[in-house]
This record gives sequence, C-alpha cells and structure tokens, in this order.
Amino acid sequence: MGRYARVVTELPGPKSKKLIEKKERYVANAFSLHLPAVIDKAEGAVFTDIDGNSFIDFGGGVGVLNVGHCPPGVVKAIQAQVERFIHTDFSVVPYQCLIDLAGRLAEAAPGPTPKKCGFFNAGAEAVENAVKIAKKYTGRKGIITFECAFHGRTLMAMSLTSRVKPYKEDFGPFAAEVYRIPFAYCYRCTYGLTYPGCGLACAEALERFFVTTVSPKEVAAVIAEPVQGEGGFIVPPRGYFKRIREICDKHGILLICDEVQTGFGRTGTLFAMEQMDGVEPDLMCVAKSIAAGLPLSGVIGKREIMDRPEDSTIGGTYVGNPVACEAALHVLDQIESEKLLSRSKAIGARLTEAFTGFQDRYAFIGDVRGLGAMVAMEFVRGRESKEPAPDIAAALVKTAMKRGLLLLKAGVQGNCIRCLAPLVITDEQLEEAIDIVGESLAEIAAKAA
Ligand SMILES: Cc1ncc(COP(=O)(O)O)c(C=O)c1O
Repeated sequence: MGRYARVVTELPGPKSKKLIEKKERYVANAFSLHLPAVIDKAEGAVFTDIDGNSFIDFGGGVGVLNVGHCPPGVVKAIQAQVERFIHTDFSVVPYQCLIDLAGRLAEAAPGPTPKKCGFFNAGAEAVENAVKIAKKYTGRKGIITFECAFHGRTLMAMSLTSRVKPYKEDFGPFAAEVYRIPFAYCYRCTYGLTYPGCGLACAEALERFFVTTVSPKEVAAVIAEPVQGEGGFIVPPRGYFKRIREICDKHGILLICDEVQTGFGRTGTLFAMEQMDGVEPDLMCVAKSIAAGLPLSGVIGKREIMDRPEDSTIGGTYVGNPVACEAALHVLDQIESEKLLSRSKAIGARLTEAFTGFQDRYAFIGDVRGLGAMVAMEFVRGRESKEPAPDIAAALVKTAMKRGLLLLKAGVQGNCIRCLAPLVITDEQLEEAIDIVGESLAEIAAKAA
C-alpha cells in the first residue's frame, strides 16, 4: 500500500456497497459507475471514499481538475460569491465576474485578432453554439469533423462525434450537413504513410474532399480538437494545422478548435493551439478545467465573427453562472501563481519517460504519445499487427484501481489509457502512481504469459 493510494477494503467497501445498491434502484442505468466507491472528500490529486479508501486521481473528473480538487483560492471565491448572489441570468441583470472573465480569456486566446467571448454550461453546449455562430457568420450549413473526434452528446455535438458505441448507436437521425474525414493519426495513418515523408496527406485530404464530396462553398466550418482527447490523445504532426488553416482560408471556411479537454494548461500551454504552428482559430470552445468543477463553458472567437449573431440568438438561462465565473477567475490566477504550465510539461516529460520504459518491456504497448501532461498509452495485440487490445486497457484500469490509482480509458476502440491527473499532483504522488502502473502492467503481463 502506498502513502496516498490506500485501498483498505474490498471495492466497493461496505458503505459504498449500500449506496451503490440504492443508486441502482433510483439512478438510470446510462449513468454507470467507473469506480465502485462513493467519494467522501478530496484534496489536490487525491480523494477518499466513505469506507476510508484513498485514491490517486489520474482522471480529474475527466479532465476538469487541472488545478486539483478543492483548491483553497477557488473554494474561497465560490463561498464569497454564493453569499452575495447565486443567479440573475446575465442578460437580465449583468455582473462583473463574467465581464472580467471574458476580458481575460479574450486577451489570453492565441492569435493577434481581437476576441470576444460567450459563456455556456457544458462542453457540448459550447460546441453547439460555436457551430451556430459559424453558420450565422458564413451563411453556410456544412460542418467538417474528424474520425476519432469527440465533441459531446447533444444532437449537433453527437453528430460531430466519431465513436458509434456508446455515443451514437440508436440515436439518429443526426444533424444534417455534417461531414467526416480522417484525422492526423500517425500511429495508424489512413494513407499508410510515415511523417515527415507523408507530405501531410491527411491535411491534403481536405482539398480532395472538396472535389469528391461537397463544395467548399457549402461549408461553414472545420471543427477539430488540437489533440484528440476521447479519441486517445492523438497529437497531429507539425504543420498539420497550418495546412488545414491555409485550406480553410482559401475557401472562406472557419476553423473551430475544440479545446474543451486540452485547455487550461493540460498540454503545457494555456491552450494547445499555442503549440500548433502559430495557427489562430476563428472560434475556440472551452469548458472542463475552466472552473475547477463548476459547470461553465465558453466560445472565444474573433470579434467580427462572435458579433454576427443578433440579440438573443444565442444564450440560455444559466449561461455564465456567477459562481462558476468567480471560480474560473481564480483558476486562471492559480495557473499563473503555481506555474502550472511548466508543471504540466514536467509531469508530461516524467510520464512519457516512465511509459516509454514500460513500452520497451511490454510488446502490448504499441504507442506512447501526448502533449504536456496529456499522455496516453495505446495497447495492441502485437507491434506488427497493431490490432487493438481493449482488454489490456480494461485490465489495467481494474488492477490499478485495486491498488488505489484511478485511470481512465480512451480511444474509439477503448484500447488506450490516458492521464488527466491534476497538475497540482506532487512528485511523490506522481511516482507512487507510476509505480502502480508498473506493478499493474507486470501483473497483466504475468497473467498473459
Ligand atoms: C473535446 C471535447 N469536446 C466536448 C466535450 C463535451 O463536453 P461536456 O461533456 O462538458 O458536454 C468533451 C468531453 O469530454 C470533449 O473532450
């Protein structure tokens, strides 16, 4: 047992077991549980369940807790705000924290063009609204998305999402005029080529698409994650976004970058697009780690584009809630004061070193990849065949969980393990987590032998 990862009961422990039985009676099955343990409290990168088990959190509420669980500055800001007022609907009675947050995000967004912001609640809502804004601005209907993309579960966001099971099956018909092309997935290049000799065939495919499938005149926007998250932390090669940007510009198509999972320091810069050849998106979707766990999302975009939808055409009752906006302002402060961007790079370097060490030892680790602290391993049956091995990813989640490390899977085939640990994780906690991954992999390899 480790100092931080301490599982002292069977999972679930007796108290969790009781509550989970109640959950099964009253909470719909779609809300299935990853960890069979009910949380009691959390701090930084560690949480404890109601049976006294503690876990190192490599999931961060699915990428939401870059500043950690319950950071004191954010907690204080939330407490102070709820005592003043909780809700007004900004469009009815405005408040300062939303305006301040818009100013800070507009100034921090990549690229020289002046920006404006709009706020929403969830990532999917930011995506829905970015698409609406792009349609309004261009007067066009088509949206191009990518294989392995994930943009959320509402109608447009689900239509843009790539993975069929569990996200799309039985939920059609999907939004019209959504088109999909392969992403820059170098480990499994659609064109069988190798970077850099490939001539970025995946980016050139966009031009070909305008010959084979739809006129660029019909296309409002291309939407892309700078690094695909749910898809398995797929990092496009240098030059990819530059070429996509050039093709979009040539045809008057907007580039929407979905930074919902990559934003707020996850990749070592505030936004991942800062590392993509200096490309400036027209619109950017943000959510998840923006407000340390309170529901808040946003679209940050070029002023001229953001201002095109007229009065009340976008919005909603709860959008840009003041408690969440206060939290977000303190998240930005904490990223700066605790130097979490360089910390993200350091975490990423250590994870990459450890995971590539495991890859040298185990042939079932096909690929280790990532950007900043966004690092993943992809599991395969064999290095040559690259046949996806989702059972190994599942076994690693389970084995690590029993040892007190919470891991999440990713990949359209479910055969990747991704790290979304809070960036406030200490070196000691990080090393303990890496040791657990190592021990778990050894156990899996021994069973397979
Ligand atoms: C890149 C990306 N976009 C959008 C979403 C949807 O966000 P939400 O679940 O908050 O609707 C997610 C969620 O995982 C995401 O990773």
